[in-house]
Amino acid sequence: MKAVLCIKYGAPEVLKMGKVKKPFPKANEVCIKIFASAVTNSDIFVRSSEMPLKYKIPMRLAMGITKPRRPILGLVLAGEIAETGSNVKNFKVGDKVFGITGFGMGSYAEYKCLKADDSTFGCLALMPSNASFEEATMLAYGGLLALQYLETGDYQNKKQIAIYGASGTSGILAIQLAKQAGAHVTAICSGKNHELVKSFGADEVLDYTKQDRLPAGKKFDLFMDAVGKMRTSALRKACENALTPKGKKVSIDDGDLKLVSSRLNKIKELTESGLLKPFLDKIYSLEDIVEAHRYVQQGHKRGGVAVRIV
Ligand SMILES: NC(=O)c1ccc[n+]([C@@H]2O[C@H](COP(=O)([O-])OP(=O)(O)OC[C@H]3O[C@@H](n4cnc5c(N)ncnc54)[C@H](OP(=O)(O)O)[C@@H]3O)[C@@H](O)[C@H]2O)c1
Repeated sequence: MKAVLCIKYGAPEVLKMGKVKKPFPKANEVCIKIFASAVTNSDIFVRSSEMPLKYKIPMRLAMGITKPRRPILGLVLAGEIAETGSNVKNFKVGDKVFGITGFGMGSYAEYKCLKADDSTFGCLALMPSNASFEEATMLAYGGLLALQYLETGDYQNKKQIAIYGASGTSGILAIQLAKQAGAHVTAICSGKNHELVKSFGADEVLDYTKQDRLPAGKKFDLFMDAVGKMRTSALRKACENALTPKGKKVSIDDGDLKLVSSRLNKIKELTESGLLKPFLDKIYSLEDIVEAHRYVQQGHKRGGVAVRIV
């Protein structure tokens, strides 16, 4: 099968198209024919290995010291079950699925075998019937991040919620979840994305590239960082300092993303009810993966970037 191989850590050009053997599922695994993957910041971190030493050492120990031990990157997938292992009961051939591959990565390829049940090597669920494969990749990655960290922040009991990095994959989904919970949502992103985040329900918008301070008296019950701790601004500090006495701040970089299919199922339900919609910035072909990595690495994609695999 065709796959993209990461031959060493470095610039996007270390990604090379190649051929590898098609995987065969073990008894507790399914083999997925992948129709879409995504280029996420997580893939950029692994490939570039550009990060502070405190993150780099554990990352290299987990992923490989001089080059990725598993050369096929890619954390997100959407596709169809092509084969099932003898013990698999929860999926059948032909099911359309979406999910995350976790430590195993491997979604920049035509096929991937994953355990049918949740593990640190991935989680999988039936895809929302009204989403394309490309949209499903945004829902898996951004949806899991947004839902987990909003739940950590007890978002259903918060009235004033700030979403920092509101125009990213998880930010756009977090706005919609917070609105459904009845909150007043302040979205923080650069000015060029203000109309976009308003179209997803944001009540107020702030531009971190132009504003250092909050309007007088502004307070938040929940501040959610949907960008990660490595990207910051003076306005972020101001928001974090504007919490109500019982206010909470959460970051999508706090702890690990939990790979749980129960959250994927919730995301599927909300999407099918028309309550959750992903935003797709660009679609690249697998052959254009270097270009896709160059684009995402700039740090200003809007929503998500998908990779179509045909
Ligand atoms: N906890 C875990 O295990 C785990 C797992 C996976 C991912 N993550 C985190 O999730 C992040 C990816 O989330 P995502 O894909 O939803 O985000 P994203 O799409 O990468 O966020 C992109 C947005 O960030 C905004 N941005 C860039 N620099 C900024 C700054 N200095 N201040 C404020 N906003 C800024 C940009 O908006 P503008 O263009 O409007 O500036 C852009 O739309 C990763 O980077 C990682 O930190 C955590």
